[in-house]
Amino acid sequence: MAGISCRHINKSYGDLEVVEDSNLEVADQEFIVFLGPSGCGKSTILRVLAGLEEITGGDLLIGGRKMNDAEPGDRGIAMVFQNYALYPHMTIRDNIAFGLRRLKTPEPEIDQRVGHVTGLLGLEQYLERKPTALSGGQQQRVAIARAMIKSPEVFLFDEPLSNLDAKLRAHMRVEIARLHKDLKTTSAYVTHDQMDAMTLADRIVLLNGGRIVQIGSPEEIYSTPATLFVAGFVGTPAMNFLRLTAHREAAGWKLRRGGIELGITGEGFALQDGEDVVFGLRPSRLRIMGMILQGSDCPAP
Ligand SMILES: Nc1ncnc2c1ncn2[C@@H]1O[C@H](COP(=O)(O)OP(=O)(O)O)[C@@H](O)[C@H]1O
Ligand SMILES: [Mg+2]
Repeated sequence: MAGISCRHINKSYGDLEVVEDSNLEVADQEFIVFLGPSGCGKSTILRVLAGLEEITGGDLLIGGRKMNDAEPGDRGIAMVFQNYALYPHMTIRDNIAFGLRRLKTPEPEIDQRVGHVTGLLGLEQYLERKPTALSGGQQQRVAIARAMIKSPEVFLFDEPLSNLDAKLRAHMRVEIARLHKDLKTTSAYVTHDQMDAMTLADRIVLLNGGRIVQIGSPEEIYSTPATLFVAGFVGTPAMNFLRLTAHREAAGWKLRRGGIELGITGEGFALQDGEDVVFGLRPSRLRIMGMILQGSDCPAP
């Protein structure tokens, strides 16, 4: 059991700052999702947590222990990648057992633990097959089993579902959510797919250009986006932006431009008369108002 603390973490390659001064406290048992567009530094953050990259500034703690310079094998983590990275010449059983064999775990214990994780993931009937004889989804489950068998304190997932078709993705999302409910292992999951994030996350860490732009529950991120970028990135179909000018009226505000005029009531915003604003409109929140007309001049159905 372990939480993760990132304190002013920085990662640069030469002059290129890929992760900027990032602060994050992940609670024990929490499922945190790093979400953002391609190239925003998600994999880099995960690789920093895993110890595959060194940080260039700040402190990293896992389970309260400083891990800045710890070897990957000493961090209590297990990582699942997008490309399943299974050994093609080994059976599924040997792929899953590989890490424990390297640790010289006794064979009877390996058997017992392989039985346990393959039972959890529904892989029992495939143990003697080679990876090529499995579907993409089954191979990804093997990769998860291989990570799980180490009983890590923290799971790290880097876009684990990106190679799967939409239907399988949806299925595996549910599987991963179920596993987390059973095991409760602290998890950090990287994705550019907002459906992954919305379904799995206790909290989402939204990244843009190497910076954390918002941290919050899926509901908070969706309903109270901190920036225009977050508002536009989260939600399908995407939020529409109307650039309008605010005008004070006797009862509330009017937002106008061109032929558009919107009356605004409510609270929670501070407008100036004449201010240019961006009005965000989610298609899913639009309501169509109408009425059924049944007069004698209406055509019969
Ligand atoms: N080893 C490296 N050397 C130099 N730049 C790198 C290296 N690894 C990643 N980068 C750069 O860091 C940025 C973030 O990369 P990455 O973390 O892989 O993004 P993401 O996973 O969000 O798509 C990119 O601009 C990428 O080109
Ligand atoms: Mg990546």
